[in-house]
Amino acid sequence: MKLAVAGGTGTVGVHVVEVARQRGHEVVVLSRSAGVDLVSGSGLSDALAGVDAVVDVASTQTISAKESMSFFAAVTRNLLTAEVAAGVGHHVALSIVGIDRVPHSYYAGKVKQERIIRAGTVPWTILRATQFHEFAGQIRARSSFGPVSIIPKMVSQPIAAREVAERLIDLAERTPAGRVADLGGPREERMAEMVRRYARAIGTRGLVLEVPIPGAYGRAMRDGTLVTTTDADHGLQTFGQWAAAQAR
Ligand SMILES: NC(=O)c1ccc[n+]([C@@H]2O[C@H](COP(=O)([O-])OP(=O)(O)OC[C@H]3O[C@@H](n4cnc5c(N)ncnc54)[C@H](OP(=O)(O)O)[C@@H]3O)[C@@H](O)[C@H]2O)c1
Repeated sequence: MKLAVAGGTGTVGVHVVEVARQRGHEVVVLSRSAGVDLVSGSGLSDALAGVDAVVDVASTQTISAKESMSFFAAVTRNLLTAEVAAGVGHHVALSIVGIDRVPHSYYAGKVKQERIIRAGTVPWTILRATQFHEFAGQIRARSSFGPVSIIPKMVSQPIAAREVAERLIDLAERTPAGRVADLGGPREERMAEMVRRYARAIGTRGLVLEVPIPGAYGRAMRDGTLVTTTDADHGLQTFGQWAAAQAR
């Protein structure tokens, strides 16, 4: 198959590209560094020539609901419009477990993304996953001030980005399936503890402060809204195993 990976240079995107190539698929990367801007749409139509399925793992780093909705609306509309023109038969998107129970901040954009896909004419598959193990590094990078990291009080059920990538390629190889079973990690973890273990694993020092975020968004982070409910599938690699591999 010929697959296009939107966000193929990102945290999960590099794994999506690698897994697809290992399975013998031809892969086109859609990202700014590969010459395609998904927000403006520049370079997109040429890149989709001959593509069978698009896997969308593009993202933006914001906690603003307005910015997140604007990014995911533009990217999703541009992708779907270009897919129709190019005759792409399958749009596969990665979303996040629990977003409709907490449609605030960054998650507001993910809710919008899902709505646009469902309303579109391109046959689709949506996979919702929990936070990646790699999220510990992402949130630490965004929330550190010198040696101090301020991490929201948050219950997570992290999963290896690699396992999410494998599931996304499984789905891209099949016929469009709509919303499929959620995918979560093997066990629940506290985000602050994940950040501490990640920092130790990569050999850095510093203080990690766990801070409860006020309001509905913060409550959802604390109360398990972002972990899987029944009928979900689960990855195998634990956060501890992943962190140990980073140390090596
Ligand atoms: N992180 C998590 O724990 C997690 C958990 C579950 C689901 N998800 C979902 O997984 C997806 C990927 O997340 P991630 O953390 O892997 O993202 P990421 O590491 O921030 O990567 C974002 C990707 O999007 C590309 N991108 C950003 N703006 C672009 C633009 N204007 N045009 C083209 N490409 C653009 C970036 O490439 P360039 O900079 O080269 O353009 C990069 O490849 C998102 O939909 C996210 O909601 C994430």
